[in-house]
Amino acid sequence: MNIIVATTSHFKYAQIICDTIAESAKVRGTGIAKRTPDYIRKKLENGNAVIALDGDTFAGFCYIEVWGHEKYVANSGLIVHPNYRSMGLAKKIKATIFKLSREKFPEAKIFGITTGLPVMKINYELGYKPVTFSELTDDPEFWKGCQTCKNFDVLTRTDQKMCLCTGMLYDPATKPKEDKKVNSRAFKRLKSIKESLFLKKKVKRT
Ligand SMILES: CC(C)(COP(=O)(O)OP(=O)(O)OC[C@H]1O[C@@H](n2cnc3c(N)ncnc32)[C@H](O)[C@@H]1OP(=O)(O)O)[C@@H](O)C(=O)NCCC(=O)NCCS
Repeated sequence: MNIIVATTSHFKYAQIICDTIAESAKVRGTGIAKRTPDYIRKKLENGNAVIALDGDTFAGFCYIEVWGHEKYVANSGLIVHPNYRSMGLAKKIKATIFKLSREKFPEAKIFGITTGLPVMKINYELGYKPVTFSELTDDPEFWKGCQTCKNFDVLTRTDQKMCLCTGMLYDPATKPKEDKKVNSRAFKRLKSIKESLFLKKKVKRT
């Protein structure tokens, strides 16, 4: 498996990247910001993406977004092709894009929003901590990305204060905690509380 900084030579993978992201969102039944092949190609052009290839076969991807005049960056669009899941690939892709972000934008805070436990675990191990949305970028362009998510109405209803996603932030000025294991039980419980609150679903709490 090759995990590398992507370039224009990887343009041919833009479509499969978008398709895999869209299909996975459908299967999970969760919200996701939609990406177009053009958008992905821009990321490849700027050297702001990491791709995982098994020979010539697409295996995974993630890219950097820059917000608030480089005060913040986000590592977004993480996707591992279903054939390559549960082998630690997401962890490796995230570590590579995190390193690239630190090199290219050393002063920037790195953040993400996610509903996924795997992403939460990976981010936590990299030194991110859960934060309220008020600690993330207020760049309207970032929040516009949520418009294509099926839970966007929740974000609007709460005046952008909270949603089903959890915000996570790595602040280069703060020393990361020694204990870098996420509390999965607490996260699952928080998620189920949010779902029952915001989606008015009857959710069994474990
Ligand atoms: C989420 C995703 C990127 C994980 O990729 P992956 O390569 O299978 O993940 P890894 O093998 O690196 O696993 C990372 C951690 O998450 C855990 N994990 C992986 N899949 C999991 C699942 N479905 N439920 C709970 N934990 C899971 C792993 O056990 C591992 O934790 P550990 O270090 O404690 O063992 C992949 O499933 C995917 O592409 N999903 C669809 C898109 C998506 O959800 N993207 C994130 C948007 S925020």
